[in-house]
Amino acid sequence: MSQALTVPDLIAAKGKRKLSVLTAYDYPTALILDQNNLDMILVGDSLAMAVLGHEDTISVGMWEMIHHTKAVTRAVKRSLVIADMPFLSYQTSTETAVLNAGRLLKEGRAQAVKLEGSQNILPQVQAIVNAGIPVQGHIGLTPQSAGQFGGFKVQGKKAEAAHKLIEDAQALVEAGCFSLVLEAIPAELAARITESITVPTIGIGAGPDCDGQVLVIHDLIGLFERFVPRFVKQYENLAQKIGQAVSQYRQEVEEGNFPDTNHSFSMSLDEFKKFHEKPQSKDNE
Ligand code: KIV
Repeated sequence: MSQALTVPDLIAAKGKRKLSVLTAYDYPTALILDQNNLDMILVGDSLAMAVLGHEDTISVGMWEMIHHTKAVTRAVKRSLVIADMPFLSYQTSTETAVLNAGRLLKEGRAQAVKLEGSQNILPQVQAIVNAGIPVQGHIGLTPQSAGQFGGFKVQGKKAEAAHKLIEDAQALVEAGCFSLVLEAIPAELAARITESITVPTIGIGAGPDCDGQVLVIHDLIGLFERFVPRFVKQYENLAQKIGQAVSQYRQEVEEGNFPDTNHSFSMSLDEFKKFHEKPQSKDNE
């Protein structure tokens, strides 16, 4: 196994190699991602939609995020684990933000936290970084604010909005972010942001010129079919494969073909004879 990745390693990778990031919410998935050398594993608040069946990401709280972060960090030895700060865990005050970020490290054992937001969250970013906690920013389409945007819509398509996003990115880096997620923005804008800051940008629906890419694992493996955003590439269709396995199992159970002798246990001939010869205990009569 190669050495565990650190925040300075990931910053140093900018301009040298592309960074690969995926979400994970449980132990077996995190194990697979770590063993396949992902640079970062994000315990995203997409947990709400991908795993818990909510309509959006605002319904998860600290309890769920810590619970799932713990499962992920138990598995991971090399990748850097980042935990999302859920809705209302940082917006209300800097103190709340520091305490909740600290819980994701102390209880969840994450190595960094991610916060959605632009210049409105600079005090929180600064306070968390001052507490010694690495922060990844997240701008563009920030799903916790989807209501304000009128849905899950591409951001920064107009010149003025694009300039504002460049300013946001620079301000977040100045406040101490070690990396920025750029979600659903034009590729040209993501390229400009990437060249204008000193830390890695991680794109999702932000084109090929970011320093790295992130996807929700359930989208990549075809396990979330409610909607598939245009920026998602489905590398596998596990929903279909799991469906086939489940239906074959049901059929074999119904037909009495499962379990067969290969999947059952038996007694030795001697014990079987004794078992038949000895009368049953009458103790309970
Ligand atoms: O919650 C999440 O999974 C995310 C990624 C989509 C970046 O924020």
